[in-house]
Amino acid sequence: MNSAAQQPDDQLEQALAMILAARKYRYIHPGLARDVAAAELAKGRSVKEAVKAAKNQLHQSAAAYIRRKLNYDDALHELRTAVAAARRGPGSDPSGDPSVRTLLHGLMAAHASTYERLPVLDRLYTQLFQKLPPVRSVLDIACGLHPLARPWMALSPDAAYYAFDIFADQIEFLNRFFDAMGYAGAAIQRNALDDKGMPPADIAFLLKTVPCLEQIESGASERLLHRIEAPILIVSFANQTLSGRKQGMAQQYAAGFLAQIKKAGWQADSLIYPSELVYIVEKR
Ligand SMILES: C[S@@+](CC[C@H](N)C(=O)[O-])C[C@H]1O[C@@H](n2cnc3c(N)ncnc32)[C@H](O)[C@@H]1O
Repeated sequence: MNSAAQQPDDQLEQALAMILAARKYRYIHPGLARDVAAAELAKGRSVKEAVKAAKNQLHQSAAAYIRRKLNYDDALHELRTAVAAARRGPGSDPSGDPSVRTLLHGLMAAHASTYERLPVLDRLYTQLFQKLPPVRSVLDIACGLHPLARPWMALSPDAAYYAFDIFADQIEFLNRFFDAMGYAGAAIQRNALDDKGMPPADIAFLLKTVPCLEQIESGASERLLHRIEAPILIVSFANQTLSGRKQGMAQQYAAGFLAQIKKAGWQADSLIYPSELVYIVEKR
């Protein structure tokens, strides 16, 4: 998006300040908010109209998925207590501990994408990791609360896990989660539409995110798929709208993606769940 250059700076700064002043967007990646506002101003909209349209874009592609605002301090306090008890217990492994897992279930329910995945959590990661070679490093792009599902993944605690999303408060929570669980890795506030480098990894998750990125910038997801330095991409599509009214839309969303895979000469295998269609793409 290069529309910032076409806008008077003061209009753009005013629009950005108005977006970031909204409670809902105070922790959002400021560069993304600026780009979205600039694109709206470039359509000839007034500052007020551009702010409204930009907020609408940011809602549709990100904020709408937050079902419940978590109290991160309370959540971490509970988690640390459960982890300490698990470490004293017979298994001494917080990842396999039922109380820790129950707590993480509850936290994942706060974000629509992980909430929809809860009924298939055990099955999905067992089936997925059976199809993968041993994984020592992971990228999780536009992660939401998906890193909280890490105990269900066949990963050792020292596997490097890099998680990216746009809300600074959620990112800080994920870093504290990694720390509490004794996991290697880092969560980073990052706009997936920026052409910035990412660390290389064995696999990259891009779950239920392609339509969100396409909504902000058409063609962005194909560029991203090529830019990710991972030999295996796990890309999924939701099978229903957020309201749950429209079902069976995953195939429709995936059609453009499958055409890109074919064009690149990559191989794709799939796993099908009621809520989500998952593709395992080999880039080689
Ligand atoms: C449908 S949710 C998927 C969340 C997670 N991947 C999952 O499946 O559990 C889409 C996610 O994309 C994030 N997102 C939207 N636009 C983004 C961008 N430009 N860069 C990074 N993340 C973005 C949202 O904040 C949200 O967490």
